[in-house]
Amino acid sequence: MIKVHDKTFVPFITREDIQKRVGELAEMINEEYAGKKPLLIGILNGSFIFAADLFRGLTIEAEISFIKLVSYKGTTSTGNVVTAIGMEEDLHGRHIIIVEDIIDTGKTLSSFLPEIHHRNPASVKIATFLSKPEALKYDIKADFNAFNIENKFVVGYGLDYDGLGRNLPDLFILSE
Ligand code: XMP
Ligand code: MG
Repeated sequence: MIKVHDKTFVPFITREDIQKRVGELAEMINEEYAGKKPLLIGILNGSFIFAADLFRGLTIEAEISFIKLVSYKGTTSTGNVVTAIGMEEDLHGRHIIIVEDIIDTGKTLSSFLPEIHHRNPASVKIATFLSKPEALKYDIKADFNAFNIENKFVVGYGLDYDGLGRNLPDLFILSE
């Protein structure tokens, strides 16, 4: 058991299982993207550890870049608008792999993906470390998904509870 701020978390997925599974995803990408020089776009902050391990597993030519998403209330009926900060790369004709830490409701990606498509990439796929299928509310599906998990809060491997816990090499889940 570990304590992060006021909450108690218990071990959930070990570093060994994480490394094995992330290696498998890297292999899938190696096969599918050989000769295509994909550009991975990691979404900060949560994805940085997963993105690093996934990227290290690539043996093909590949590039990586990171962006930060800032959401604010729009004045239109669409509500929240998500804008990317730090996206300087020319995406035109590129094969893009978005790298996320977790797809929860899918809201973040569903508001951000149009911005990517707007830049005319050759293809766009999504790699996520975790998915919470029970929480999904938007039409977002990961192409490369390391683990499906139940609808509970997790920390570790880049994911935080109020800023803490990202440096844990294993994944922990909120204890009841
Ligand atoms: P949506 O709903 O947009 O949410 O898919 C994605 C973002 O929500 C955060 N999130 C979590 N962060 N443990 C975390 O540390 C969790 O269990 C969790 N669930 C959602 C996360 O920032 C993600 O990018
Ligand atoms: Mg977070």
